[in-house]
Amino acid sequence: MREYFIKNITNKNNLNQIILELDNLVDFYLNFRNKKNKSLPFIKKNLHKKMVTLAKKDRKLFGKFFDASQCIPSLHSLNSNLLKDIKKIFNFKLIQIGDYPRLRLDLPDNRNNDPWHQEAMNYDAPRDSITLWLPLVKMYKSLGRLEIKRDSKKIGLLKYSTHKTRPYFRVCKKSLNKLPSWKPYVPFGKFIVFNHAVPHRSTRNVSKKFVRISIQIRYNFLDNKVYNNANYIPTTPRLVSRQEVSNFESKRSFKI
Ligand SMILES: [Fe+2]
Repeated sequence: MREYFIKNITNKNNLNQIILELDNLVDFYLNFRNKKNKSLPFIKKNLHKKMVTLAKKDRKLFGKFFDASQCIPSLHSLNSNLLKDIKKIFNFKLIQIGDYPRLRLDLPDNRNNDPWHQEAMNYDAPRDSITLWLPLVKMYKSLGRLEIKRDSKKIGLLKYSTHKTRPYFRVCKKSLNKLPSWKPYVPFGKFIVFNHAVPHRSTRNVSKKFVRISIQIRYNFLDNKVYNNANYIPTTPRLVSRQEVSNFESKRSFKI
């Protein structure tokens, strides 16, 4: 399997729909009531300022907005569109999402960048599973691009240690330094997919005023050559429900 691909997304409208829903959501959290018909370019331009304002005003409320943004319907409908693209590239038929789509909102002051790691460290999935990353904004250099290593076959899975605080995974950098680095330019309307052995990291958003809005989705292929019943576990988190936690009533966010 090739280490990575950069491809056009077939349905760009889906991406714009996510932006529109995100804009509605941030207006709700900012308590903006006066909604006028605004053009898409206007919305795209102002969305950054609104999110930064919300984060500065109330970081906890921004956290709630962030959680709510993970449940935007258009974010999840993106998956069925992308599935066609993924099937075309990899030629597998039995494809599962390894994780639900994640919307990432990296604020200009965000210092929590993930250092070098391989997805295989984090996800219990077949080795040739893939991660898809796509931006919902114009990827200026200052926003902090994804950086990946080439020739990952030469090193295989890196030795790493796990920690309870950031960075959660710390890798042995010796072998990493031998590989060439690359910061691919992935514009709005394209996506990059890379397999779970490719070392990568995110670089800092130093733009001062723009939020790096991006999406990550992980896919597993069941009909690949390494699949067997023992090594495949769906990694999509379960909803917490009464059956799974004994103190369900005390964990409720919505009191009845
Ligand atoms: Fe990653």
